[in-house]
Amino acid sequence: MQSPLITLNNGIQIPQLGLGVFEEDFDISKTKDAVLYALKAGYRHIDTAAIYRNEEEVGKALKETDVPRHEIFITTKVWDTNQGYDKALKAYDASLKALKVDYIDLYLIHWPVKAHRKDTWRALEKIYEEGRVKAIGVSNYLVPHLKELETYANIIPAVNQIEHTPFCNMSDTAAYCKEIGTALESYAPLVRGLKRDHPTLVSVAKKYGKSTFQVLIRWALDQEIITIPKSSSPNRIKDNYEALSFRLDQEDLKKMSTLHEGTRVASDPMTYL
Ligand SMILES: NC(=O)c1ccc[n+]([C@@H]2O[C@H](COP(=O)([O-])OP(=O)(O)OC[C@H]3O[C@@H](n4cnc5c(N)ncnc54)[C@H](OP(=O)(O)O)[C@@H]3O)[C@@H](O)[C@H]2O)c1
Repeated sequence: MQSPLITLNNGIQIPQLGLGVFEEDFDISKTKDAVLYALKAGYRHIDTAAIYRNEEEVGKALKETDVPRHEIFITTKVWDTNQGYDKALKAYDASLKALKVDYIDLYLIHWPVKAHRKDTWRALEKIYEEGRVKAIGVSNYLVPHLKELETYANIIPAVNQIEHTPFCNMSDTAAYCKEIGTALESYAPLVRGLKRDHPTLVSVAKKYGKSTFQVLIRWALDQEIITIPKSSSPNRIKDNYEALSFRLDQEDLKKMSTLHEGTRVASDPMTYL
């Protein structure tokens, strides 16, 4: 099974369903096998970050797999303490080295650190203009952050990766991203399992003969959103990928979209104003 592709604002294509590799306990010993398993299962998009401390493990999997580098879409992110023009340029090189690749597909500003986000974006633009990265984008940017960025950016972000689930439904940011041509990517699409027994999800999942996890992934996919559920268990990596095999109808999509209650597993980006 192949993931659909989403075409970004610079023409680059990204597989809509990818694998997240953030280990909450930083047990990076699982990462290499998770990536190898995911590649076997059909995934062609891996989402890491310098702060996850596992870029090297992802790199080992890239070296070991038979899947050619150009068929795999790799995202990584510049961490807060490496923001600023010179530091971000160095951080990019450090990520290339850790991943043992000569380009990254998508490089993101991980969080909108107020003191440095403008200079960090200039650094990402420079890397892009030099042809050293396929696409650049941001993460955890809400509407005020995006509006501010537009006042100085030469390049509009290709992607904005945010926490966006039925329970943390950032519909205003989603609509704004659409308006400016930035593709939306949702992280923590499974709400880290916190809603696995939610009655609405259970009833929707039952209707399709699927799991509540697959239904959450579908909620993103059916709205043309890129998404990156994380698992390091072979069975769950496969189950999550099988969310590609069905679609939610409009009624169920709408039903799930009413579940917003502000549940977040990561920080609120509004604290970065
Ligand atoms: N940009 C940002 O600031 C940001 C923030 C957070 C996350 N992210 C990215 O988004 C990715 C996904 O988010 P996340 O890892 O925070 O949370 P998530 O994908 O919502 O949930 C991951 C959790 O769900 C479990 N799980 C996965 N599939 C399952 C299934 N089918 N059945 C039961 N349990 C399942 C995983 O355990 P097992 O591994 O044991 O299966 C793990 O504990 C991250 O890995 C990272 O790449 C980005």
